[in-house]
Amino acid sequence: MRIYPWPGQSALANALAPALADLDARTAALALHAFPDGETLVEVEPPAAGGDALIACTLDHPDARTVPLLLAARTLRELGAARVGLVAPYLAYMRQDRRFRPGQALSARGYAALLAAHFDGLVTVDPHLHRIRDLAEVYPIPVRVVHAAPALAAWIRDHVRDPLVIGPDGESAQWAADVAARAAAPLIVLNKQRLGDADVRVSVPDLARWPGRTPVLIDDIISSGRTAAAALAHLRAAGTLPPVCVAVHGLFAGDAYHELLEAGAARVVTTTSVAHAAAQIDIGALIAAGVRDLWRAPDAANPEIRP
Ligand code: R5P
Repeated sequence: MRIYPWPGQSALANALAPALADLDARTAALALHAFPDGETLVEVEPPAAGGDALIACTLDHPDARTVPLLLAARTLRELGAARVGLVAPYLAYMRQDRRFRPGQALSARGYAALLAAHFDGLVTVDPHLHRIRDLAEVYPIPVRVVHAAPALAAWIRDHVRDPLVIGPDGESAQWAADVAARAAAPLIVLNKQRLGDADVRVSVPDLARWPGRTPVLIDDIISSGRTAAAALAHLRAAGTLPPVCVAVHGLFAGDAYHELLEAGAARVVTTTSVAHAAAQIDIGALIAAGVRDLWRAPDAANPEIRP
């Protein structure tokens, strides 16, 4: 197996290669050249004849990445790769999972169709599954979903004394409940209303039952940060200890990271699915387990990857 790190993302591929020594994995070069007119030239180190190729590319900022990514996959196949896989710790476009207004794109399905046309398999971490219950509903290729909950819970156990886990909305309840159980912490789930990209309202129940606990806001994604900021404002007004924000994927649009710190977060911490100063929770070993499982039994029915 040759693992191709996306330019600027070598940490993931460098962690995967030694962890997958049993698959004879080693890293290989993938380079991009940006032409002045906005097109991109993709160049890959040819794979071993009949060998497998795995591109390691997390998919924040997906619009700029996707065309070169598809070209890279196609090129590897043309050059003789037997199987071309994708490890994308953050999988883009999963939140637009229905037409909220007639005429809107069903982005989750459309994006899945694009990737599935070029890759033989996909490994990702906690994709945003809400109205789509299972990634296999939209990805007609073998997929493995890696769950970060054990890593998030371990981080909370190690860094937060007497945590109170808080999910900011019903969609987060699935992750928050899993993390709370693993961290042996109580859980509350807030109600959220999103009125626009940057207009989020949440309601916080009476917190008097949890004196002395440190609120830990858990979400799958921090994007604009408005969800976490709205929850932080309520928690600070309720006089809690300074809350900690923990998420699987930190996209941090604009200056969201610093805005959350300014809004009163004691810390903002994410997994390494997207590179950022907040990405303190290493999930490389979990991802390697997902890749190994996919490679060894690609046709197994999407088993859950948990340690
Ligand atoms: C919502 O469906 C997700 O679970 C997150 O709560 C949401 O994506 C966070 O977005 P933002 O940071 O833009 O409020």
